[in-house]
Order: sequence, then C-alpha cells, then structure tokens
Amino acid sequence: MKYVIGVDLGTSAVKILLVNQHGEVCKEVSKSYPLIIEKSGYSEQDPEEWVDKTSAGLAELIEQFDGDINDIEGISFSGQMHGLVLLDENNQVLRNAILWNDTRTSKQCQEIYEVVGSQRLLEVTKNPALEGFTLPKILWVKENEPEVFERASVFLLPKDYLRYRMTGNIHMEYSDAAGTLLLNVANRNWSNELIETFGLTADFCPPLVESHAFVGTVKAEFAQETGLSDAVKVFAGGADNACGAIGSGILAEGKTLCSIGTSGVVLSYEERNDLDFEGKVHYFNHGEENAYYTMGVTLAAGYSLSWFKDTFAKEEAFEQLLAGVDEVPAGSNGLLFTPYLVGERTPHADSTIRGSFIGVDASHERKHFARAVLEGITFSLHESIEIFRSSGKTIDSIISIGGGAKNDTWLQMQADIFNAKIEKLTSEQGPGMGAAMLAAYGCGWYPSLKECAQEFIQTSKTYTPIQENVEAYKKLFTIYQHVYPQTKELNEQLREFRK
Ligand code: XUL
Repeated sequence: MKYVIGVDLGTSAVKILLVNQHGEVCKEVSKSYPLIIEKSGYSEQDPEEWVDKTSAGLAELIEQFDGDINDIEGISFSGQMHGLVLLDENNQVLRNAILWNDTRTSKQCQEIYEVVGSQRLLEVTKNPALEGFTLPKILWVKENEPEVFERASVFLLPKDYLRYRMTGNIHMEYSDAAGTLLLNVANRNWSNELIETFGLTADFCPPLVESHAFVGTVKAEFAQETGLSDAVKVFAGGADNACGAIGSGILAEGKTLCSIGTSGVVLSYEERNDLDFEGKVHYFNHGEENAYYTMGVTLAAGYSLSWFKDTFAKEEAFEQLLAGVDEVPAGSNGLLFTPYLVGERTPHADSTIRGSFIGVDASHERKHFARAVLEGITFSLHESIEIFRSSGKTIDSIISIGGGAKNDTWLQMQADIFNAKIEKLTSEQGPGMGAAMLAAYGCGWYPSLKECAQEFIQTSKTYTPIQENVEAYKKLFTIYQHVYPQTKELNEQLREFRK
C-alpha cells in the first residue's frame, strides 16, 4: 500500500494526515500554536512555530507508522491564506507573520483604492482591498517599519514558507497567490501594474506554480528530524479554502461548500474567470488547474465558539459546552448573536464592527447563549448564500465540513437556516484531505483531481430542512440583518476604548 501526507497549516494548529491509496485516513496528528495578539485588531504568529510544530507532528506520525517509510510517496499542503512572511536576502524571517485575521491595515486599503481605483483593482485582482489580504500588510510594513521593509527581498504565504523550510525551494501557487491582491487572477500572472504602482520589484514575488506541481524533495536534515524518506516528493499545495473545496469534491459547476474553521466560508465552484460579483464575494483561483471559486467569509466562525468556550467554560470540552443546545428551540428563546468578534468581511467589510448578544433575558441559561452563538455564525454564513442566490445561482444542496459538521444539531441548523439539503462526508477533513489529494494527483495515482475525489470522498449523512424551523429562521434572519446597521455607529464610538 502507498501513502501520501496532507499537512493543513491552520490558524490554531497544524493537522497532519497520512492517507492511503483508497483515501482512508490512517493516522492523524495535530499540534497547536498560539496567536500573538499584541493589541486589538492585531494577529500574528511566529513562522518558526509552524516549522517546529509541523516537524514534531511529522516525527510523531512517522513514529506511529508501522509500514515501510519508502511507501510514503508524496506530501502536500493546505495553508491559512493571506498571511505575510517577509524574508531577507538570506531567506531569514524578518518579523512575525501578520495573519489573515489581522485588521490593522484599513488605512493601507484606502490608499490602494485611492491609487489604483476600485474598478481597476477589481478588473485586475477580481477582489476588493480588504484588511486581511496581503498587499495591505506589505504596505503597512513599508510605512510603519521601513527598516524591516528595506531588508525584505521576497514575501511568502504561511504554507509556502513551511514548504521552503522542507525543500529549500521558494515558490507560491495560484490559489494562495490569488489572495495577495498582487495577482492578475484571470490571467494567472503577477500584475506588473500593481507591483510597479506600489514600488515593489518583480523578484519580491515568488515564482508561480500549479497546486499539484512537484517542487522538490525533502532536505536531508528535515528528513532526519522527522523520519521521512528524503525521496518523498513535495507538491506545492493550496490555500486552505481551495484545499477544503478539493477535499470535499467541490470540483464541478453547481457544487457549494460550507466550511467552518476559525473563519467560516461559503464557497462555490466556478469554471469561468470573467463573472462579475462586483467584489461582494471573493473570487479566487482554485487548486484545480484553470478553475476558480467564489466565496463569502465570516471572519470569526469557529473562533466565536472557541472564544465563548475559552471565556466562559475553559475547562470543558466542546461536547459538554454544547450539551443541551438541542433542547433549546430555534431562535434561542429570543437571544440573537452577531459573530463580529474581530470585525467582518462578507457582506460587511468592516474592521470596526464588533459582536453583540441582543435580547438577553433573565430566563436565559448558558445553553441558550451557546445555541445563539451557533445560530449567529450560521446566519452570518447565510448572508453569503443569499448573495450567491441573488446572483442567480441555485443552492439547494451544500457539503458541510469542519467544526460545523461535528455536531448533529448544528448540521440540522444549517439545513434549516440555509433552507438547503446539507451533506456530511465520511471524512470531513476538508483542507488536510485536499492537500493529500494534491499529493496523490501529483504522484500520478489518478489522471485528475475529479477522479481522485470519486475514490476518496463519500457522503455519510444528509440533513433536510424542517419546514417549521425554516419559517422561524426566515423571520429571525431578518432581525439578525438589522443588528449590523444598528450597532455600527455604536461600535465606532466604542473603538477608542479598545486596547
Ligand atoms: C479567506 C480567509 C480565511 C483564511 C483562514 O479569505 O481569510 O478563510 O484562509 O485560514
């Protein structure tokens, strides 16, 4: 039996999967690392932590593996998107990585609009200037840490840095490059226009490759540290959302994914690169060659739930925290939550907005709050589904992966709020599985990712909408949509009190 490894470099942890030729997950290791939050709106990580934790995780996985190490043929990656890693001319890291959920760059986003114009930016990059994307972070460093920027010779995204440390080779692939705001998404090349406009140089942007491209083998020292064979083939990998799509079989027009990790996304496959969503949803290159996807993002999806647990039930497991939410009726007895803990992206690109519990009543117990958190996250994702529907897409069936697919009540809630059939997969690993599939495809096990998906991905359970709940949630969603405009100004006033 042959194997591949999928490494999912997430925001809270790296998850490593050993997958066999039938797509079965044979071993799984996870190692967490912290966020560095120096002040409100900031979110950083030390790239060395990614390398250390991945190397320790791989060593643990290999230690438990009782087969022939030479049967592990390939390795690939899924990575948290947009994070800025700056390297000097000796490829040394210059500062902590500034992550996708860091919102310090509102001023730089304004500058991008002023200099490029929002229409031209959309034409070239297919996306608006959002705080989380990479170009605004580059400009922030340029303005605020000129001595660091002066020494920067190339930038990488998180998983590209990890892969560089494994192979010694520097690359970026299209699906992640799409989130930098420097790529011409439709033409699939770095935009010279944007590079020049912002005083960057062409060699500041790494060479671009396909997600399944072979980019080298593991360096001898990394092989020694982890127990991997130094003949294992390394493939470029993809952005976590592209890999989530691959790992859930979102490889044909009409397929929709709901993925709840730290952030939450609703994502739809696109064959075409010339549609116009006016920047309301993200429009990125897929990990499949010449394919695309559109996506709405809730910044704090799983993060809202883990914040709630860490703040009010630190010692408890998620199952304990969520025990009882199924006894609470749709609408949490009049309690409504908006998940804007770190600002929001879709449909309100707003770094200042913050979350609310509306309608707190003396009868509410913790389980009502827990259910309201789940409902608020799901309402936020529903806003993206509504954008897709209003653009003419039919969304009647959605594959759900990640944290949202681990709990029956939450899966049924998605069916009821989205008013669509929800499918749960036998392995809802999503991004890690997508990374493993890129390695399997790269190794030549399958002639295409689609054929790999046919072998690797199966539905285990389907949830259909319960009409009574659908009706209740329609009314509640309208109320939910009123909370943003009514709390926007209050949050602007509260901003000066945030430290
Ligand atoms: C997508 C985004 C997040 C991160 C999470 O644009 O910022 O979904 O990819 O890792």
